[in-house]
Amino acid sequence: MTAMQAPGRASADGIWHNLRLAGSLAAPDVPVAEGACAALVVQGGRIAWLGPQEALPAAHGALPRHDAQGAWATPGLVDCHTHLVYGGQRAHEFALRLDGASYEEVARAGGGIVSSVRATRAASEDALYASALPRLQALMAEGVCAIEIKSGYGLALEHERKQLRVARRLGGALGITVRTTFLGAHALPPEYAGRSQDYIDLVCQQMLPQLAEEGLVDAVDAFCERIAFSLAETEQVFAAAQRLGLPVKLHAGQLSDMGGAQLAARYQALSCDHIEHLSPQGIAAMQAAGTVAVLLPGAYYTLRDTHLPPIAQLRAAGVPMAVSTDHNPGTSPALSLLLMANMACTLFRLTVPEALAGITRHAARALGLQDTHGLLAAGRAADFVLWPVDELAELAYWLGQRPACTVVRQGRIAHGTGAPLP
Ligand code: NIG
Ligand code: FE
Repeated sequence: MTAMQAPGRASADGIWHNLRLAGSLAAPDVPVAEGACAALVVQGGRIAWLGPQEALPAAHGALPRHDAQGAWATPGLVDCHTHLVYGGQRAHEFALRLDGASYEEVARAGGGIVSSVRATRAASEDALYASALPRLQALMAEGVCAIEIKSGYGLALEHERKQLRVARRLGGALGITVRTTFLGAHALPPEYAGRSQDYIDLVCQQMLPQLAEEGLVDAVDAFCERIAFSLAETEQVFAAAQRLGLPVKLHAGQLSDMGGAQLAARYQALSCDHIEHLSPQGIAAMQAAGTVAVLLPGAYYTLRDTHLPPIAQLRAAGVPMAVSTDHNPGTSPALSLLLMANMACTLFRLTVPEALAGITRHAARALGLQDTHGLLAAGRAADFVLWPVDELAELAYWLGQRPACTVVRQGRIAHGTGAPLP
């Protein structure tokens, strides 16, 4: 390097040498032993070649070189489930829960999601942008190169549009891949109290088609739960998404098992998220449909949940498990994906390689980005992170401190600590 190079200055085409690779995060055909000295060639913003350093093809020899000084390389991290754009915050509910109120009680008393809806509706698009920006920057500083951002705190066309427009603007301004998810069926807005079906009709017949037409929707999500929408209502949302050719995802099994996983699998959902309450039938359906299980340990922790997701059964069935922040002001005010990896290991007993695959490979798949993101492989976007740590397990090990890293996006140093790599 040029390890000290300022962000953005590195030439995009080049050879990154003297780095270490984890087998599970590189394409299966890359013949590099775990931790052995490897090299990676970037051309045109993509990975052109990846392999053992001594096998570097001579044809690439003239490109500029960047010495990674033995740092471990991972793909750019992927945060596949966030509610990053919202007005206000909900610290008072945190206090209420410490006083003994449950999430469900707070929600039924007019707090919860609906209180964020009030604050989001009251905020301008610029104000939402300004509050979401540092949150996204915090995630990116830790290596996140692709992120999902949901709507669902507007619950009316203009306010859902506002959230999704902010998500798109953030992606454009910060040069990060943003996938937007329309979550109009997140909660029943107060003006529709007692008229759930009318609201679902609005979501399916007006909001979703209009926002899709405006190019604001990459996927469609719903909250299938006794404090949110029924299985039948969720299916109407999925059918509307299917008519528009949009993939679906589902918040399912957070508080109870309503059979959401089976429904999601019938619609070839990209993912089922939360799933603390998940039956063997749900697991089998997800496995057959290739639906990713998105684990959200931040929400589990914040709500002091004790009902663990069925990790051993998901593992045995071969269901890919992703891990995400679920960043939101109510159940998971988390802004560290690595902390979620730690919690997935400590609370859910994932292995470190599983947790790292959960914030890269499987998270990319949960967003339909499996062909471009989440894996170090020739042909993929040259989005990767260099970690000057002794062991890759340190990514899931440290608590309350970010390991230093250098983030490379499209082959350029996007940001980093500026510290020399070891
Ligand atoms: O993923 N489960 C529903 N949605 C969010 C919580 C939203 C909120 O409480 O504001 C979640 O946990
Ligand atoms: Fe969520």
